[in-house]
Amino acid sequence: MNYHQYILDLKSGPIQYELGPGDYSLCGNIKMTNHDFPLSISPTEFDILKNLIIDYDLKNGYEIATAFGISTTALGLGFKETGGKLVSMDAYIEEEVNSFWRYQNTNPTLYYDMDGYKSAKYLIEHFNLKANVFLEVGWSPNDTKKCIHKHITEPLDFVFIDGGHFPDQFIKDLESIRPLLASEYIIVFHDNFPDLMIPKVQKYIHETFNIEPTIITRYPLGNNMSIINKNKIKNNTKTQNILENNMSIINKNKMENNTRTQYIQKYLTNDIRLLNQEDNDKDWLNIHPNPFEIVGNKEFSSCNQATLTEEFTKVKDQTKVIVEIGVSRISYNQTYDQTSTSVFLKHKNAETIYLGIDVDDKTSLQSLGRNIFTLQSKSEYYERVKAKLDALKISQIDFLFVDGWHSINQVIDELWYVDYMKSGGVIGFHDTNYHPGPSRIIKNLNSDIFEVVQFCEQRNDWGIGFAKIK
Ligand SMILES: C[S@@+](CC[C@H](N)C(=O)[O-])C[C@H]1O[C@@H](n2cnc3c(N)ncnc32)[C@H](O)[C@@H]1O
Repeated sequence: MNYHQYILDLKSGPIQYELGPGDYSLCGNIKMTNHDFPLSISPTEFDILKNLIIDYDLKNGYEIATAFGISTTALGLGFKETGGKLVSMDAYIEEEVNSFWRYQNTNPTLYYDMDGYKSAKYLIEHFNLKANVFLEVGWSPNDTKKCIHKHITEPLDFVFIDGGHFPDQFIKDLESIRPLLASEYIIVFHDNFPDLMIPKVQKYIHETFNIEPTIITRYPLGNNMSIINKNKIKNNTKTQNILENNMSIINKNKMENNTRTQYIQKYLTNDIRLLNQEDNDKDWLNIHPNPFEIVGNKEFSSCNQATLTEEFTKVKDQTKVIVEIGVSRISYNQTYDQTSTSVFLKHKNAETIYLGIDVDDKTSLQSLGRNIFTLQSKSEYYERVKAKLDALKISQIDFLFVDGWHSINQVIDELWYVDYMKSGGVIGFHDTNYHPGPSRIIKNLNSDIFEVVQFCEQRNDWGIGFAKIK
């Protein structure tokens, strides 16, 4: 059964549901119609959570946080089959402030009678889960133990963490459940992305649980849901089947390793891949001291802006096509005017084509002027990108700006775009100071082919660099 579709079609309850925006709709995450936040898990993650409970025959679970009851329903359906119990707690703060980040560092505050609570209560009744699932309004970590113990006094063999997505809060969430765990348990958490999994968090997990989390869902099938399995043995194979299917779809879109080797031989002086295969797919690796603390949340600095403006202006009259990977991120204290995209759109000649490729929907940019196009896609979905280039009759790219996913494999894969470039073309790389992919590639471009310059190399900047094709 496709539960997400079923829930989207439910019209009899107090709340209506719809797909989330941009990237989220590609993944299938849903939200309540009258609220921008919170957002739920993806359909694949729903199936994994439900089946994980059944596969491992789990009995005593806790979830932070309910939001509006989608992951709660998935877990509840699992516990219904095992005869187990789930406590799901939320402060409903994200719904109140209607943002997933604006409540960082706020004092504990609880909100009652919220739409999310009504929705979760309705879904529990609708799916007949009242004997298995208990909703609580509470603040993590302060109320965690109290709320769990109202319903479950046995040690927990399952925890799902999807509350405040801030490193310190995540550590507090984990710390609050640590004394409540059984000797064997499974912890699943959502959104294992670099801004959450900063080195401090990685170190905490390593030292506390002595086990590395494994990412089990990736875009477009989910949002880096991850698992820590402490000695739990499977009785069933439902989850395994879903995971294998999930991984085979993801791998289909990735470039083969031997194609990567060819790109490395063609464009680089050294193989920049690391011995540990998995690390090559990470956008972030352990670096101390933590650059996020040194550079802060500002993505595209005034130094980056000035440099991009200068380098682009030098060649703009010869530039007929600009392709930008990773478009105008206006979160993190950054307005549109401070983005790389604004530099291109402000300075490009009217007849120059701009194509922005992003996992999010950026179609609104298309209204800003002539010859501005966007494609909602991952940069490595080559067939989709090629179809768009063909539709726009683009056979040559003159200015490429690479600012998407910054893993080592990803930037190697993006050399696919360089095959579209000719002598005089320019490739800009953002994040050349710390990020695993760009920082390595910029230093290893073959100087017979590229003339490379790096800027904004000061410690408190993410860095920017350019490679001009000779
Ligand atoms: C991403 S949503 C959870 C989505 C849900 N797991 C699902 O997939 O259906 C995050 C939720 O965490 C809650 N939250 C954040 N920080 C919290 C805290 N310290 N205590 C309790 N709830 C919190 C927010 O109110 C929000 O509803």
